[in-house]
Amino acid sequence: MRDLPKIELHLHLEGAAPPAFIRGLAREKNIDLSGIFREDGGYAYKGFDHFLQVYEAACTVLTGPEEFRRLTLAVLEESASHGVIYTEAFLSPEFCGGADLAAWRDYLAAIEDAAAEAERTFGITLRGIVTPIRHFGPERAKATARCAIETFGPFIRGFGLAGAEMMHRPGDFSWSFDAAREAGMHLTAHAGEWGGPDMVADTIRDLRPERIGHGINASRDPALVEDIAERGIVLEVCPGSNVFLAAVPSWRDHPIADLMARGVKVTVSTDDPPFFHTTMTKEYETLAKVFDFGESEFETLLQTALSAAFCDEETRGRVKARIE
Ligand code: HPA
Ligand code: ZN
Repeated sequence: MRDLPKIELHLHLEGAAPPAFIRGLAREKNIDLSGIFREDGGYAYKGFDHFLQVYEAACTVLTGPEEFRRLTLAVLEESASHGVIYTEAFLSPEFCGGADLAAWRDYLAAIEDAAAEAERTFGITLRGIVTPIRHFGPERAKATARCAIETFGPFIRGFGLAGAEMMHRPGDFSWSFDAAREAGMHLTAHAGEWGGPDMVADTIRDLRPERIGHGINASRDPALVEDIAERGIVLEVCPGSNVFLAAVPSWRDHPIADLMARGVKVTVSTDDPPFFHTTMTKEYETLAKVFDFGESEFETLLQTALSAAFCDEETRGRVKARIE
C-alpha cells in the first residue's frame, strides 16, 4: 500500500509540521510551547476549536522563510515516503509574515526553493494554494487574495479557504473569490466538514469553487449530492481527519464510499497528518479494510485527483507519465 503511487490535494503545510520539528524550533527560539505537547511528544488538544488554537500556537515558531524552507522539505520527504508523487498544499500568508506582500514573496521563494529540491531528491511535485483563515475574517482574506493574485503562476495555482467553518458565511468571502477567479486562479473552499448541506450549497452558490474541502455533510441531502455529481465538483475527502476530530462517529459511518457510489468525484487526503495521526498509507489501508477498496477504487481516486489537480497541463502530463 505504501508504494502505490498517490496524489494528495488537501494538505495544510503548517498542519503537516511534525511535533518534533515545532518543538525543536521552540527550543531554538526560547519560546515556551510546552502546553501544546503531550508527554509522548504528540500534539495535545481536544476537539476542532482547540485543534485550531494549538495549530496557531505551533505556527508562532514559524517566524521566517528559512523555517518554511525546512518545513517544506521535511513535509515533502515524509509524503514521498508514502508514495505521494504530486501534492498540493494550502499555504496561508496570514501565518507567513501576516499577508504582507513583500514578506509573502520572501516566504514563497523559500517554499518554492525547497519544493524544487524535494522534486530532485524525493521525486515529489508540490503546487501551492494560497489560503486565508476564515476566523481571521474577510478583510484579512482580501489581503491574502492580493498575495495570491500577485504570485499566481506555475507554482501558486489556486485560492482556498480554511479555518473555523462556522464563524462566517461563505458569501463574506465572495469579494476575494471573485478577484481570484478573475485573475484566472483555481478555487477550493472548506465546507461541510462541520456545516450542514446548506453550508455546502451556499459555498457552491457564493464562491463557485471547482473543489470543496471535505464536503462530507452534503451526503445528508440527496438532491445536493446529485447536484455536486452533475456539476462535477470534486470533494477533497479526508476520512482519517474526520474520524479523529469526530466530524463522523467512526470510519464505518464515513460517507466516502456512498458519495462515490452516487457519482460524486472524490479524492483522498490527510489534511494535517501529525495532528490526526495519519498518513496516506494509513488512509489507503483503512479504506481497504473498512470499505473493501481495492485496485479499481484506488485507480479511480488517482485518476480523479490527477484530473482535478490545479497544476498546468505540462505538469499534469509529467505526473501522468509517471503512473502509466
Ligand atoms: N479544517 C479547517 N481548517 C483547517 C483544517 C481543517 O481540517 N486544518 C487546518 N486548518
Ligand atoms: Zn483542511
